Amino acid sequence: MTIIDGKQTAAEVRAQLRVRAAAFEEKYGRKVGLAVVLIGEDPASQVYVRNKIKGCEDAGIRSFAHYLPADVTQAQAEELVRALASDEAVHGILVQLPLPKHLDAERILACIPAAKDVDGFSAENIGRLALNEEGTVACTPLGVMELLRRYHVETRGKRAVIIGRSNIVGRPMALLLLNADATVTVCHSRTVNLAEECARADILVAAIGKPNFITADMVKEGAVVIDVGINRVDGKLIGDVDFAAVSQKASLITPVPGGVGPMTIAMLLQNAISCAERAMR
Ligand code: GUN
Repeated sequence: MTIIDGKQTAAEVRAQLRVRAAAFEEKYGRKVGLAVVLIGEDPASQVYVRNKIKGCEDAGIRSFAHYLPADVTQAQAEELVRALASDEAVHGILVQLPLPKHLDAERILACIPAAKDVDGFSAENIGRLALNEEGTVACTPLGVMELLRRYHVETRGKRAVIIGRSNIVGRPMALLLLNADATVTVCHSRTVNLAEECARADILVAAIGKPNFITADMVKEGAVVIDVGINRVDGKLIGDVDFAAVSQKASLITPVPGGVGPMTIAMLLQNAISCAERAMR
């Protein structure tokens, strides 16, 4: 059994991204620019945003951080995003989710043009992914694909089972694995016989949001197990997979923390560079 080292892999990716960001700057005389918008004071979001901004600095990407108070109006939030959309120094825009409840997230995200949508959340980018066309793909599922590629996991003809159908992880994950020639099953809260579906998987991706939900009896001997869960339990981070037991059966498995998590920011930086490069074509 091999434990997938997301931290090490992300460091390797980031080293390559520094080269790409520097080449962009050399060629166009300015840096790749990423705007990050945080509304309110959600503590987890504050940590994520801080890490994203640190990641930009480290990669040689110029970050534009915008912090809005929790009581900002819908019109003010939309106005900021529209201003960033028309700012030529900004190649990518990220609005950290979740937003305060009084705001309509969909309408705010709709102010981000697809070409600057570094999260790949827009209908246009999801449509492109569904059509297997070039576009921006959500960072977390993209990070999973990068881990599979770098650990030489064959996807063609394999049975991939994804648990969770969220717009941010489950759905784009299913499309990516389908585009990579896997036979894909998406399970969710209404799935009948979830354990049986899981036990057929050559590649099992858990994106449920329930600590230790995937137990050893749900996993086939030799399966590749990817844990996208980040659950805070008594101040500790716990994945969706019962790691101690499942690692006895898996051939490859991601830990939490140190698996998929570190890849997400690396993919965000990659998406920002790709948006900037495309803007110049
Ligand atoms: N909140 C949790 N994950 C994400 C993400 O990938 N992008 C954004 N914008 N917000 C998030």
